[in-house]
Amino acid sequence: MKFRVFKWLSLSLGVALSVSYLNAKTPDDELLKRARELFKPIPEKLDRIPYKEVKLTKELVELGKYLYFEPRLSASHLISCNSCHNVMLGGTDNVETSIGHGWQKGPRNAPTVFNAVYHTAQFWDGRAKDLMEQAKGPIQASVEMNNTPERVIATLKSIPKYVEMFKKAFPKEKDPITFDNVAKAIEAFEATLLTPNSRFDKFLKGDTKALNREEKEGLKLFIEKGCASCHSGITLGGHMYAPFGLAQKPSPDLAAGDRGRYEVTKSPADDYVFKVPSLRNIELTYPYFHSGKVWNLEDAIAVMGTLQYGIKLSDDEIKKIASFLKTLTGERPRIEVPQLPPSTDKTPKPITK
Ligand code: HEC
Ligand code: HEC
Repeated sequence: MKFRVFKWLSLSLGVALSVSYLNAKTPDDELLKRARELFKPIPEKLDRIPYKEVKLTKELVELGKYLYFEPRLSASHLISCNSCHNVMLGGTDNVETSIGHGWQKGPRNAPTVFNAVYHTAQFWDGRAKDLMEQAKGPIQASVEMNNTPERVIATLKSIPKYVEMFKKAFPKEKDPITFDNVAKAIEAFEATLLTPNSRFDKFLKGDTKALNREEKEGLKLFIEKGCASCHSGITLGGHMYAPFGLAQKPSPDLAAGDRGRYEVTKSPADDYVFKVPSLRNIELTYPYFHSGKVWNLEDAIAVMGTLQYGIKLSDDEIKKIASFLKTLTGERPRIEVPQLPPSTDKTPKPITK
């Protein structure tokens, strides 16, 4: 009798134990659950622009690609979008602040174009509402491509291949070579510049082995220290504004006299407020911050700890967060470079002064 009770007890205990073992969440499962509440993977491909009803037809994207690489959109015929947002690098130029027309140095660091289609606004201060509006800026900016819409249209109309490509990309329009359509085509091409399948994305999709132990600890710190309260969503940023220096103002050198969104809204509440940058491919997009003053990722993480939270992260914490951030490097888009058509006698000549 005693023996039977013991047997029954041990049997039921065994069943209970194994059931609870099966239900138990491993630390990895817990971390995955928390991560999925905050972040989303980058999709492999888009067939339309997420924020508007524009289908990404082959003809439109192809035209956008030509224009993205087209230096004749600049007055000097030397500078294309790719000069500062180099798709062979991290979709950026890796210099402190960009160099444009006549070797002029612009005021801000160039953010990457990769995955930018997911930002809710463009530029460090969010002054362009989407990629189409954004694309019109640099073509005309005197420190960037220094051109005019009229010269851009005259240039494109003078080259038969472009006349044909615009007709195919905008088949319903009578006079498709317009400045708006230049911007629309570039926007469509940019929507294809996604970097899916980073190791972090594999983790988010359920492969908990895609990150090693140090990287997982970094992810945990990134969440627990509050980084994810600003750097969250599909691009770990790009969807909200925040002060640069929530707890402490940046040094004048780091801020570079840039008041951020204040210049757009003139509201004192927006002083030194910037769009929270995406951290996707952050390993490739140095130097960091709007001023481009910080070259090392670990230094940038330390700056964030001090300025946003007034805390000093330990070297070990910084190292782990940096390891995690490097798992955000995705597969860069494979692009066949376009063979641009030659100019004709009617093409406006370059202005190099
Ligand atoms: C001379 C260098 C230069 C050229 C040429 C240039 N850009 Fe930029 N780009 C920048 C800089 C610098 C910024 C940030 C400016 C700011 O925030 O005020 C920027 C911002 C952007 C952004 C915003 C990204 C974000 O996260 O906010 C996009 C998108 C972009 N550029 C696309 C383009 C396209 C498309 C072209 C070609 C039509 C182009 N750029 C030409 C330097 C350049
Ligand atoms: C209050 C919101 C907020 C919090 C919290 C925050 N950040 Fe940031 N982060 C920003 C803003 C805004 C910028 C851009 C600042 C600038 O250049 O003007 C930025 C910039 C960065 C950059 C540089 C990105 C680039 O492309 O130049 C890194 C790296 C970064 N943050 C990592 C972190 C880490 C790690 C934490 C946690 C320790 C963190 N951030 C916490 C808002 C935040």
